[in-house]
Amino acid sequence: MDYLQIEPNQKPKGKVRISGAKNAALPLLACTILSKNKISIKNLPDVTDINTMLKLLGILGATYSKKPHHIDIDSSTINSTKATYDIVKTMRASILTLGPLLSRFNHCEVSLPGGCAIGSRPVDIHLSALEQMGADIDIKDGYIYATTKDGLKGATIIFDKITVTGSENIIMAACLAYGKSTLINVAKEPEVVQLCEVLQTAGVDIEGIGTDRLTIIGTQQKLLNMKAFEVIPDRIEAGTYLCVGAITNTKMTVTNINASHLEAVLRKFGEMGFGIEIEENSITIYPTKEVLPVHITTTEYPGFPTDMQAQFMAVATQADGTSVIDERLFENRYMHVAELNRMGANIKVVGTVATIENAPHKLTGTKVMATDLRASSCLILCALVASSPTTIDRIYHLDRGYEKLEEKFKKINITIKRKKIDTK
Ligand code: UD1
Repeated sequence: MDYLQIEPNQKPKGKVRISGAKNAALPLLACTILSKNKISIKNLPDVTDINTMLKLLGILGATYSKKPHHIDIDSSTINSTKATYDIVKTMRASILTLGPLLSRFNHCEVSLPGGCAIGSRPVDIHLSALEQMGADIDIKDGYIYATTKDGLKGATIIFDKITVTGSENIIMAACLAYGKSTLINVAKEPEVVQLCEVLQTAGVDIEGIGTDRLTIIGTQQKLLNMKAFEVIPDRIEAGTYLCVGAITNTKMTVTNINASHLEAVLRKFGEMGFGIEIEENSITIYPTKEVLPVHITTTEYPGFPTDMQAQFMAVATQADGTSVIDERLFENRYMHVAELNRMGANIKVVGTVATIENAPHKLTGTKVMATDLRASSCLILCALVASSPTTIDRIYHLDRGYEKLEEKFKKINITIKRKKIDTK
């Protein structure tokens, strides 16, 4: 198994080019199931979650040819409707095949994703919405068996909670349904917006894009004519590299970004005292004389993203005073706290609230363990300001969502070495 070794006291210099957004690309790949033609997708990130989705689509019968950051995919050839446990267990987002498979084929079997490191993460809202569209759902032996007699029916669905993949699944299902669907309390994340835009360009009548209320006129199972598109930039990767500048209190630039997707994050950098400069295709963070403590509550977009919570906690360990973070979306998303405390931080968690007390904390490097994708990047951030070397185990979490990590860090003058545990 690989681990990362990070030398202490490293400062960035230069620019990082941000990759395509994993969380946009995943539903966009799943939505090719609705298409009758081959599609060319650009700015596809080279991360393991994307390869897992491609593997799943391949098993279902899709064909594709891949070049760096570019794929031509034909899902019209799909002839299987079973997403098996061995794939779904490695990536929860496999659930995104449920809506498109059911709406196209009238039946499918998708393994239940089960729990994950950051909480129980049920899919009850996805299933209830499909039932409201006329699906019969049976849960047996860990699988969701979904069927419809003559296709899904348009329906008015009010999501009990805002769910990103839940909204995406039902948007895709509604595209091939019979009749009009009105979806209320839909997620407004940029990734959901891009999915809607791509589906609209493919001929689906969708209104309300970017709001929490969508109306979609289904095509009565007529497959779509999808056009070529480019995946939006990854706002979480961009935010993470800006945190590299913040935690080291050094100038740092990210390019190939959409700054409007990062408003809540940039606001928090500002509240901490950092200067932010936005140009057409770049954001630069500037050092500050005094790093101020911060108060953050994670919420749905356009609020502060839960996927940036761990990284800001890392930065808060270097602020001058006590910061408070309230994690509202996932009940177990503080697994990194124990590791940060092992590095010398002083963070207390009560319920959903983490208090980063009496910072700045003097961090020392040690052997730590990555627990989920974003928690892993917060360990790298802390390692950069630690006074001794850090090693991070279980880095497969990082490879799920950060493209060419060591290469990108090398470009900004930071050495991160990937090593193999010697099992001899
Ligand atoms: C997506 C993102 C993930 C991000 C999260 C929140 C992808 C592939 N992943 O995950 O990176 O952290 O949004 O922004 O896009 N819930 C239910 N029942 C459901 C569905 C969700 O109770 O059927 C709850 C969840 O447990 C959680 C909340 O709703 O507490 C939001 O989760 P959701 O938006 O669904 O997260 P994901 O789509 O899984």
